Amino acid sequence: MQSKKTYYITTPIYYPSDKLHIGHSYTTVAADAIARYKRMTGYDVFFLTGSDEHGQKIERKAKERGITPKQYVDEIVSSFKDLWKLMDVSYDKFIRTTDGYHEKAVQGIFRQLYEQGDIYKSSYEGHYCTPCESFWLERQLANGCCPDCGRPTELVREESYFFKVSKYAPALIEHIQAHPEFIQPPSRAHEMLNNFLLPGLEDLCVSRTTFTWGIPVDFDPKHVVYVWLDALSNYISALGYGQEDSADFDRYWPADVHLVGKEIVRFHTIIWPIMLMALKLPLPKQVFGHGWLVLDGGKMSKSKGNVVDPVKLIARYGVDAIRYFLLREVPFGSDGVFSNEALIYRINSDLANDLGNLLSRTVAMTEKYFDGVLPAPAAPVAGEDDALLAQARALPAKVEACMEKLLLPEALEAIFALISSCNKYIDITQPWLLAKEESSRARLGTVLYHLAECLRFAGVMLQPYLPNTAPRLFEQLGVPVGALTDALALCFGDLPVGTKVHKGEALFPRIDVQAELQALEAEALAQQAEAEQAPEATVPAAPPEPQAPAYIEFPDFEKVQLRVCRVLACEPVPKSEKLLQFTLDAGESEPRTILSGIRKWYENPEALVGKNVIAVLNLRPRKMCGIESQGMLLSAITGEGAEETLSLLTTLCGDFPGGSEVG
Ligand code: MSP
Repeated sequence: MQSKKTYYITTPIYYPSDKLHIGHSYTTVAADAIARYKRMTGYDVFFLTGSDEHGQKIERKAKERGITPKQYVDEIVSSFKDLWKLMDVSYDKFIRTTDGYHEKAVQGIFRQLYEQGDIYKSSYEGHYCTPCESFWLERQLANGCCPDCGRPTELVREESYFFKVSKYAPALIEHIQAHPEFIQPPSRAHEMLNNFLLPGLEDLCVSRTTFTWGIPVDFDPKHVVYVWLDALSNYISALGYGQEDSADFDRYWPADVHLVGKEIVRFHTIIWPIMLMALKLPLPKQVFGHGWLVLDGGKMSKSKGNVVDPVKLIARYGVDAIRYFLLREVPFGSDGVFSNEALIYRINSDLANDLGNLLSRTVAMTEKYFDGVLPAPAAPVAGEDDALLAQARALPAKVEACMEKLLLPEALEAIFALISSCNKYIDITQPWLLAKEESSRARLGTVLYHLAECLRFAGVMLQPYLPNTAPRLFEQLGVPVGALTDALALCFGDLPVGTKVHKGEALFPRIDVQAELQALEAEALAQQAEAEQAPEATVPAAPPEPQAPAYIEFPDFEKVQLRVCRVLACEPVPKSEKLLQFTLDAGESEPRTILSGIRKWYENPEALVGKNVIAVLNLRPRKMCGIESQGMLLSAITGEGAEETLSLLTTLCGDFPGGSEVG
């Protein structure tokens, strides 16, 4: 018997530093859809995910809560597993970097690199970004902060082991240039070459001594292994590398794709391949850097009370609606925007109207006109049927072509294009009119058969993306799961005549947009109030563009409408502890309202009346506490926590009327 082709796909392993938000679930849902698709099309798939549990960040979080790091991670990791279960993530293995086999494998890797002279001992003096767990040189900092996340770095001075990464740089550059598919999308490959590899790599510090929550270097245990070296090794330790049973490693390595967010492409396409080269192992076939899911108003943060919780969304709309939104709305490779409006629009238009209605109309008409028994089709009618049938027959190949390039939204688009053609086919053939004439009965049967068969095709192809909806669709169509739902055996016309359809509940109930948006706003207010009680903490949902240097072009800057505004009135927003409501003269016919969360720094807001402030006028308006804020005021901020100080920006001299340009 010929053995199946293998497919090894990984997600990054998540930091258990906080609850996961909807942005995090994007990587894993996308990887799940790919894994399910590959399984459906005959591959022997290994899908890995897990948690990245060591490092200074976790150690500090545990300390803040007065528990041990292990207690801390155990609790959060179990919430990760619950979330993946809820989202129907079909991983084959969940690795924890605190698993004993992983720790041993990492120690073995470190020792081997040391013994072969690729790792040496010296001392490190430089900057460290704890949230990103990354080392930076003075010259790489952006305004003294981490160029990846923009947060302050810490000066670190300690004895450390170093990895001679520069030794492998020429071979890596050659590999990237010879294998354009290795880093995707191609823009990320250029970024890696031009920003990091071609300017020259410095040896990498790969151990720390100033904290203990890590894997000890076994021959020098006061050192713990640098968390990225530890984490990246998960992709091979999970398969048994360096262990007694390495059958999975032999079977699945090299990985077909490491799916990662764009901010960690650097670790996966520079440090990781160099580690593998030093270990004399083959490199993964591809690292795919996807964009972020961002919020309309920008970054998600606990203190803003705008973190989007996937568990809440699933409770409201169901898991497949959320999976569909994530997979459809985020262009693979660039950023996607989450908003309640966009989510509800997708659910109503694609899932409830297009797919749900098509199924319920087809089943209802089969019941009404043929007692629920699928009639036999007559010969297709040229001009009315052939395009639809050709589209259905071409669908599997079309989806395959998209999935080959990991273009998930395009794959869904192709499936929904068939669904929309079916709806048009109903409009054109008008089955309700055919039903009036006995002489049209054969034609009516043909139309309904074609619709049912197209729906079966769509259902089969939807299985990887909407794993709960496809079986519900088959159930209503009367299609048993098995040969008829096998993507590899799809053949138009195989659906047996005489199949009994069963009317069921709507696949996706239509949402009343206005009522839903109001309910969501009320919930957001409650969440904001909760956050105002809770200690400040930010979730790095949508960090600024990563990878130094973060230049923008002048036309980009010009897009920002910065203006001097005269404060006409300023008062606290009644339902909020943080917000001030400004009424501003921005040189326009009507005064502008802008809300700003700076109440604690201006106890006497009336004192601001008559002052000039600087505002961004063309920021998308946003409702908070029921009031629309039409822009943003600029402030200077320094210090952290209780030390934090803020001042609104203003003009220093001269008389600048409201609306004066700033630039
Ligand atoms: N622990 C490292 C990965 C080590 S892999 C050897 C890490 N963890 S993370 O928890 O911070 O991020 C996990 C994944 O979630 C990353 O791919 C990251 O890009 C992704 N996302 C986090 N916020 C996101 C959005 N708002 N949108 C899309 N993906 C986002 O990095």
